[in-house]
Amino acid sequence: MEIFRTASEIREWSRARKRSGRRVGFVPTMGALHEGHASLLRAAKFHADSTVLSIFVNPTQFGPGEDFAKYPRTWEADLETAHREGVEAVFAPGEGFYPDGYRTIVRVPDWNSVLEGEIRPVHFDGVTSVVAKLFHCVEPDVAVFGQKDAQQALLIRRMVADLDFGLRLVVAPTVREPDGLALSSRNRYLSATDRRRALVISRALRACAAVWDSGNRDPSEILDAGRGEFERDPPDSVDYLTLLDPDSMRVLDGEPTLAGFALLVIAARYGQTRLIDNMALGEVW
Ligand code: PAJ
Repeated sequence: MEIFRTASEIREWSRARKRSGRRVGFVPTMGALHEGHASLLRAAKFHADSTVLSIFVNPTQFGPGEDFAKYPRTWEADLETAHREGVEAVFAPGEGFYPDGYRTIVRVPDWNSVLEGEIRPVHFDGVTSVVAKLFHCVEPDVAVFGQKDAQQALLIRRMVADLDFGLRLVVAPTVREPDGLALSSRNRYLSATDRRRALVISRALRACAAVWDSGNRDPSEILDAGRGEFERDPPDSVDYLTLLDPDSMRVLDGEPTLAGFALLVIAARYGQTRLIDNMALGEVW
């Protein structure tokens, strides 16, 4: 496994791989790898021949007062995971990636300010900009993202289409703990009590999905099932529990009825920790 620090090194490596007939699969991350990330590495291996993992805690996607400084950094353990999952190249550009800060922005207007984007105003501009930059460094044939960050995956899907990145985007399912909690690097911030309380998030998703599965397409009845779970077991606060149209990024709560698919999305807080989760109703990806 090789480790690269600069754009030109990883680009050269990747181009050489492609010249030798191998398809390059790419998994961008901010490190603190867990089984969710590992599943993306396996998906990359399935869909391509050589896997590149990037590890970069991207300052531009954290707002002021967010957890950039204390975001977990677990370099040695990450390299072990990468090695175990058969990663061929790790791209870890570090602070040199934005030597003079950040001026050019790759933005998906309007979509960048819905739900997560409304609560975290600079977040998605930071994500799409850094992912575009990473794509230019790695020039992958296939890039793999997690459904866990569904809005992020939708924005990137749109950016890839709009800017003709010419790569295949794979969106891989959310990996959960056996009790339902979606794996997240931020789960480690939860106290044992909040960790238990947070199970209501996946329970709310399942309650809504059960209404959908019964054939009911009324958004308010679907969402009421989730709201009922939150009333029984309230988080410190709920930022949103809503339905999103993955093609238009429109919130569907007020619609009389849903079409064949919708994305059910939740964000809730326990103390300082914000958790997001979602479930696809029908065929979203
Ligand atoms: P990070 O939070 O490290 O996540 C990297 C990838 O892992 C994302 O595609 C995310 O959706 C996926 N992921 C996280 N938890 C998962 C889970 N439980 N199951 C499956 N996949 C999961 O997302 C980012 O980093 C950054 O925004 C990045 C795209 C790297 C740009 O900086």
